[in-house]
Amino acid sequence: VTVRQMHLNAFLMANGHHEAAWRSPGTSPENQLTVSHYIELARIAEAAKLDSLFLADVVALLGDIRFNAQAAFEPITLLSALATHTSHIGLISTASTNYSEPFTLARAFSSLDRISHGRAGWNVVTSCSQQEADNFGVTAMPTHAERYQRAEEFMEVVLQLWDSWGDDALVMDRDTGVYADLSRIKPIDHVGEQFHVAGPLNLPRSPQGRPLVVQAGSSAAGMDFAARHADAVFTAQRELAPAQEFYADLKAKVTENGRSAEEVLVLPGMSPIIGRTEAEAHDELDRLNALIAPDYGLEQLSRILGHDMWQHELDGPFPELPNATEGNQSRVALINQVARERGLTVRGVISWMAGARGHLVAVGTAAQVADLLEEWFVGRGADGFNIMPSILPGGLSDFAEEVVPELQRRGLFRTEYEAGSLRGLYGLPTRV
Ligand SMILES: Cc1cc2nc3c(=O)[nH]c(=O)nc-3n(C[C@H](O)[C@H](O)[C@H](O)COP(=O)(O)O)c2cc1C
Repeated sequence: VTVRQMHLNAFLMANGHHEAAWRSPGTSPENQLTVSHYIELARIAEAAKLDSLFLADVVALLGDIRFNAQAAFEPITLLSALATHTSHIGLISTASTNYSEPFTLARAFSSLDRISHGRAGWNVVTSCSQQEADNFGVTAMPTHAERYQRAEEFMEVVLQLWDSWGDDALVMDRDTGVYADLSRIKPIDHVGEQFHVAGPLNLPRSPQGRPLVVQAGSSAAGMDFAARHADAVFTAQRELAPAQEFYADLKAKVTENGRSAEEVLVLPGMSPIIGRTEAEAHDELDRLNALIAPDYGLEQLSRILGHDMWQHELDGPFPELPNATEGNQSRVALINQVARERGLTVRGVISWMAGARGHLVAVGTAAQVADLLEEWFVGRGADGFNIMPSILPGGLSDFAEEVVPELQRRGLFRTEYEAGSLRGLYGLPTRV
């Protein structure tokens, strides 16, 4: 009998997930755009035996760079570099189905999988901002439904491209002069509503066959997409009961799609703030919150909500806003709900959001953080967590050196890398 253990992904972001991270002592904003910064983070995560690293991405200069680090490396490029400095940890990159082509991404992830010897993962996003549309000549933003329709066909094409070579297609017989067995390399001849793709891919099947697929939308359409295609799901959940509901709903959709519930892992985001005492951890969060520029918070909120927040008083009540039908449905609903439940002012919402943009923030000692992770994991609110350190590298090393050993002592997390691919680390077949 194998014991169920949790999976831990390190969500890396610039100087950290707290919006004022770059102003905090212990971060080095001047190093953020160096590969050595990320190599350091990857090594910390790999030493702690984490499953994977993850890089988010948007294809526009989003947010207000006046107040925060918004420039970022193209993530597949960066992960290719990290692949050569690591040997076990998974490497997950975001890429958009709206602003790319299936052939381009199938090839890029197949390359990353080969470069990393089977450690590539793709976080499939559909991109919901106008600023991204503006960089690709898209004048009329596609609707939420249209984005997921495109994602569906996109995925179908990518899977076919990844499978367009048989495993034994390369013969490389020097004696006969036959390099490849053409009966094992087939065009896909996809003709659909959005894409016409002949194939085959110009790369053999990669070490995992299909790189790991991650999905991070929590709307009904997002969950349906995940149930069909994802191996893991990132989600923003801030309390156990709704997290359990999301977990059960998603697993139900997975089984409705003829897959087994264990084939799709649910990984809520969690930003740990660890102190030697609980009070010390709270002081650290207060210290970080005091560094937020209110203008930046208003800008961020306006962008996420698609509503001009500047017209509201900072210390006035948070306005009643309609839930979104476009854009990021799940996040808008979450912000509205928290604001109402806690009676927050606009400034209060900004502080709450600053921690990890609506994800769970766990403030306390390492043992308390481990307790919380255990409760969510054992209570089937999570199969593991997307760890979002508030500051980097310190927040990641605190988690790696204090919380991970605690989880290992409790038998909840691996002490050695065992499997030979990212899929394997996630408890899935090593290769599909
Ligand atoms: C942990 C996490 C990471 C995400 N990373 C990205 C990202 O890098 N780029 C992006 O465009 N959207 C990202 N998203 C947003 C979702 O992929 C999705 O587009 C969004 O939630 C809207 O979809 P929905 O309406 O189905 O919820 C992320 C969401 C979560 C929970």
